[in-house]
Amino acid sequence: MYKDLLNIISDSEHPLRSWAKILPEQIESGLSPNRYGKLEQWQSAIDNLPKLAVTGIDLVDQVKISSTQSLSTESREAIKHQLKQLHPWRKGPFDFFGTHIDTEWRSDWKWNRLKDHIQPLKGKTVLDVGCGNGYHCWRMAGLGAELVIGIDPTAVFVMQYQLMQKYIQSNNVFVLPLGIDDVPQNLQAFDTVFSMGVLYHRRSPIDHIAQLRNCLKAGGELVLETLIIDTDSDEVLFPKDRYAQMNNVWFIPTIALLIKWLERLKFKNIRVVDVNQTSIDEQRTTEWMTFNSLVDFLDPENHNLTIESYPAPKRVTILASK
Ligand SMILES: C[S@@+](CC[C@H](N)C(=O)[O-])C[C@H]1O[C@@H](n2cnc3c(N)ncnc32)[C@H](O)[C@@H]1O
Repeated sequence: MYKDLLNIISDSEHPLRSWAKILPEQIESGLSPNRYGKLEQWQSAIDNLPKLAVTGIDLVDQVKISSTQSLSTESREAIKHQLKQLHPWRKGPFDFFGTHIDTEWRSDWKWNRLKDHIQPLKGKTVLDVGCGNGYHCWRMAGLGAELVIGIDPTAVFVMQYQLMQKYIQSNNVFVLPLGIDDVPQNLQAFDTVFSMGVLYHRRSPIDHIAQLRNCLKAGGELVLETLIIDTDSDEVLFPKDRYAQMNNVWFIPTIALLIKWLERLKFKNIRVVDVNQTSIDEQRTTEWMTFNSLVDFLDPENHNLTIESYPAPKRVTILASK
């Protein structure tokens, strides 16, 4: 699965060559059956999907894999059954040989809000930190990136990538079962680094931004998307306990404070390109993600508040240069 990546970055001239030495062991440990009891079940679901002749791949306007081969109703049902073994499907949507994987999130909406603002990705080396199943990684390749590395420590999402990769057979999009702390320090190797939906999960947001900066080449671009509090002052919300039912949310700054953090870390050309309150149409329960979703995490009387009476999730997309 990752042979091509190791070949690419092992080249003595490649800026990621120092990572190549430790990466095989990191991947093995990130997908260790001792850590994930369901790994075998996920792998058999992928293995049990039929061999299909891929005749079309669209990563530009959507993520769609298609075939001119016609599928019987029974084959379609069997495919759907295997895909659902990798529940929950949070990021997408995907069109998988005519099966519409209607994921919890309309991740395409997030992508559409930022794609025209970022530095062109054509020919670039890109890192997507906390990439989930790699939905946005595929879209980055659709914009012409030369190499896209996504990292995410949640094994089921990495397996969802591997499922798509079984058919797409990409030689330049790789989702690795790693967290940001597994990335060697001070790589300075990427033209663009994305961190979307991760900062508020970090106990030390400043260190997270510093880690992202250390991944960037001089002149590279950071694309940071995170929850914010919509006031003019420079304050931060530190939830007493849960925020929108999530027990791993630590710091939600205002935009003014986030900009100060970026300035203190010597980022330049800091621009807010989007502010958006997450709607219950963008994040919702579907047959592909059957757990509770945003509507269940909001105050039923007032959707501008979470169930804990904090401001409802609002997100900023901010760009900055190293
Ligand atoms: C809210 S999701 C965002 C997914 C995607 N980036 C997006 O914007 O749609 C946060 C992701 O960060 C991942 N994550 C959590 N801790 C992480 C860490 N230390 N390093 C990298 N990713 C992490 C989670 O597994 C999860 O998939």
